[in-house]
Amino acid sequence: MTVLEGKQVLLGVTGGIAAYKAVELVRLLKKAGAGVDVAMTGAALRFVGKTTFEVLSENPVITNLWEDSHGSVAHIDVAARCNAAVIAPATANCVAKLAHGLADDALTTTFLAVTAPILICPAMNTHMYENIRVQRNLDLLEKDGVHILDPDFGTLACKTVGPGRLPDPWLIADRIEQMLTFKDLAGKNVLVSAGPTLEPIDPVRFVSNHSSGKMGYAVARAAEMRGAAVTLVTGPVSLSPPVGVDTVFVQTCHDMAEAMLTRMDGADIIIQVAAVADFRPDQQENLKIKKRSDQDGMTLTLVQNPDILRAMGERKRPDQFLVGFAAETHDLAANAVKKIEKKNLDMIAANLVGGKDTGFQADTNEMTIFFKDGSHTGIPLMDKPAVAHKILDAVLGRLEPGR
Ligand SMILES: Cc1cc2nc3c(=O)[nH]c(=O)nc-3n(C[C@H](O)[C@H](O)[C@H](O)COP(=O)(O)O)c2cc1C
Repeated sequence: MTVLEGKQVLLGVTGGIAAYKAVELVRLLKKAGAGVDVAMTGAALRFVGKTTFEVLSENPVITNLWEDSHGSVAHIDVAARCNAAVIAPATANCVAKLAHGLADDALTTTFLAVTAPILICPAMNTHMYENIRVQRNLDLLEKDGVHILDPDFGTLACKTVGPGRLPDPWLIADRIEQMLTFKDLAGKNVLVSAGPTLEPIDPVRFVSNHSSGKMGYAVARAAEMRGAAVTLVTGPVSLSPPVGVDTVFVQTCHDMAEAMLTRMDGADIIIQVAAVADFRPDQQENLKIKKRSDQDGMTLTLVQNPDILRAMGERKRPDQFLVGFAAETHDLAANAVKKIEKKNLDMIAANLVGGKDTGFQADTNEMTIFFKDGSHTGIPLMDKPAVAHKILDAVLGRLEPGR
């Protein structure tokens, strides 16, 4: 369940070539459990038909102040009932009208009546976007508290290369979710590690583990949604970095140790989700090790990697909150409690690995959280983004005021 579940989103579609992407946005919002009302300009109707939006949103689409009222003041009703409003794509014309409070069509009149948070997604030719008048209008809107999602850089429909593309619908939906999330981590710096580390044997082989990075990425994303400034240090995984998160890519345990230890002093909350390889080959060959016909096998000598969590625990200031993760195959509670003491942690999130629905590659997880005072609490099986929020709830519940 996401914050969009049960919320009402008003989507404004204006006359840009990217109007077709708004169709997918409606689908994503509906899939996330939101109700959607759509308002379109006359120019937007030249790009995409109203019927598509009507069918997907399961609501009448507002296009005309005079013909869509059906006995009520429809544009005021949808403005009043929305929890969030977004214009995607927003033309230069619409940005100008909104910045100056004009209300000369159904869409701009509706948006002037909105009191919920508004997200504007400008999309246009690069020269239009960079035009000082467009930039001035976007600045005005931002100063008024309107959220602006910068356009992507790329090749536009007009063949210009530069900023102006409407970001992908999933990213717009992500930012709507962010806008609706309560900012209880505002002002906090959160440092998260994720994924496995990869310890090279030679240029083509390595020692690693099955960590997918899903849990760590979910924690970083949830913290960003809740208003924290987040840095994510990640080992090699095949996930897109969370939006709005400063992401640092590393490979080995040594790289990760350096990245975490050089950043930890500036963090209020440190969450080590990464599954750091405990061992690495004692030496890394510069050239690929060749198979030899005179040998049946080879012996690989492993040496222990530095313990990043322990090093952070030793260095931690009293005003910092350090969270460790424990992935165990047995004796979950005993191992987790031991780890809290040994590594000077404030909290540990422990789970059993090896099950189908929990641990490394799974989309869901089930955890027990242990605190340093000996108490513990359970997180039942749920998807990893929801688990991430539960973990942050537990951290916030233990943060002393002012810490
Ligand atoms: C093929 C075509 C593509 C257009 N694409 C854009 C666009 O991407 N962004 C933009 O700001 N205007 C674009 N325009 C111009 C707008 O449609 C025009 O400024 C219109 O008045 C906008 O009306 P609206 O803001 O009421 O939707 C395009 C026009 C045409 C003919």
